[in-house]
Amino acid sequence: MTTEIHKVAVCGAGGTMGAGIALVAARAGFQTVCFDTSAEGLARSREQAEKFFGKSVERGKMSAEDRDAALARMADTTSLDDLADCDLVIEAVFENLEVKQKLFADLNGICADKTIFASNTSTLSITEIASGCGREDKVVGMHFCLPAQLMKLIEMSRGINTSDDIFQAAWAWTQAAGQLPVETQDKPGFILNALLVPYNNDAIRAIEAGLASPEDIDLAIRSGLGYKMGPCTLLDLVGYDTQVRLCEAFYPVTLDVRASAPPLLRRMVAAGHLGNKSGKGLLAGRSVDTEKAGEAPAYQLVRSGESRSFPEGDPFLNSGANSADVVIYLGGGYQPDPSKTALLIELDTECLGVHTGEKEGNEGSNAVGFARYRNGNDAPSNLIEIVRQPNTSADAVAAAKALFEVAGFDVAVCADQPGRIVDRLVRPKYNAALRFLDEGLATAEAMDMTCRLGLGYADGPIERVARGDLARHYDVSMAIYEMTGLAAYSPARRAVVAKARQGS
Ligand SMILES: NC(=O)c1ccc[n+]([C@@H]2O[C@H](COP(=O)([O-])OP(=O)(O)OC[C@H]3O[C@@H](n4cnc5c(N)ncnc54)[C@H](O)[C@@H]3O)[C@@H](O)[C@H]2O)c1
Repeated sequence: MTTEIHKVAVCGAGGTMGAGIALVAARAGFQTVCFDTSAEGLARSREQAEKFFGKSVERGKMSAEDRDAALARMADTTSLDDLADCDLVIEAVFENLEVKQKLFADLNGICADKTIFASNTSTLSITEIASGCGREDKVVGMHFCLPAQLMKLIEMSRGINTSDDIFQAAWAWTQAAGQLPVETQDKPGFILNALLVPYNNDAIRAIEAGLASPEDIDLAIRSGLGYKMGPCTLLDLVGYDTQVRLCEAFYPVTLDVRASAPPLLRRMVAAGHLGNKSGKGLLAGRSVDTEKAGEAPAYQLVRSGESRSFPEGDPFLNSGANSADVVIYLGGGYQPDPSKTALLIELDTECLGVHTGEKEGNEGSNAVGFARYRNGNDAPSNLIEIVRQPNTSADAVAAAKALFEVAGFDVAVCADQPGRIVDRLVRPKYNAALRFLDEGLATAEAMDMTCRLGLGYADGPIERVARGDLARHYDVSMAIYEMTGLAAYSPARRAVVAKARQGS
């Protein structure tokens, strides 16, 4: 990929993101001016650069000569005047609108007319950052992921006044630098954070609502959806103080209640539970019992209809006994029987209470709900969600857990709440992604690629929900919407269309 850009400056190169962005530019062969107001920060970044390129040599990814050349291309400065002859300036300074606006206005008087200004902001508007700087047509959004030197994805956006030529030139530079750009509109959180921040809040709200433990939530998301990391582990990594700052940036602009800081999040920050950095978080600092059951009780299968958990031919269907203390009802039907240890009722989108009835404040019996997670018509995952009511017998839950664990499934236990764990957390994300598509935030390909490259998901939300069947997404999302009344579950337009066309 060719580019007219030869010399690049990184502002805030003494910080976390700036240090990584400078590595990307220098590694790709560009003269790189590393600017920061903090000389100590620059010295730290220089040390990191030596270590990073040193490791690349050790791993055979770079020759010793290339390492020396890359390091020689990086020049440190605390004087803005040294940026005068740069073709591209990428700012990664503090996330503060006034600081960024002043930097670009100052640079406007120093740099040549043709110099492009790029902002790595995560939460601010590119149009607002550019406003008043004197070259509003030459400012673009260039959002790298952390750590920039290892992550290929860049979310590129234009301000209202950005010229097309400038956007194309900046785009071409990211490709020349070996990165993978996706285009998104100048909207809060672009694609990645717009999907991630509310989803992480949803996980905190689910814990606050007593749905399940952080361990079970993470297990369910990893096993059910194939994500590398569950939301609680991710939040420990991101930091709860950072999550509050993200909420405070997005909520006032979007008024999306999912983006508002959940009360538990604020309490955690007040208590100093900031995640890995303070050693305390939803999972950080907690010892987790991961021991699985060794022995399974025998079980009897009662099949009244088609099972979504265990379709015809599933090996699990071969191993039932004629009569046992645990009875599994597949595809509907259930007979109360207090003499049994556990009665397992396969659930679809309904809650367990529909089958067992409710004794107010005292619900529970030996009946346990369960469902094997499945993305629409995709093959079932390895996750079994077990549903208990407040007073469900502990022996019944233990028996259900043991028999599925010994059969090789991942088992997560949750309360009898709409959507269980996975659908409760993932359906709002699918609806948001589908609505973003309607609103032209980005193409389906850009959104899916952002999730794959930026978040390490096996697939993106649009391709996943389309593959599983949009009409099935409608059914699941609508069922939760009817139970909760929460707008996030109101099925997105494309799912409504798919449902309406089904069978027509
Ligand atoms: N940390 C992330 O995960 C992440 C990811 C993507 C984007 N971002 C964005 O990158 C930017 C930087 O974030 P960070 O986490 O690297 O912050 P950081 O605090 O680690 O680094 C900021 C650096 O900017 C320097 N600085 C501040 N004002 C300056 C100025 N006027 N001129 C020159 N240098 C100045 C500071 O000395 C510091 O070294 C923010 O806009 C943030 O939203 C952060």
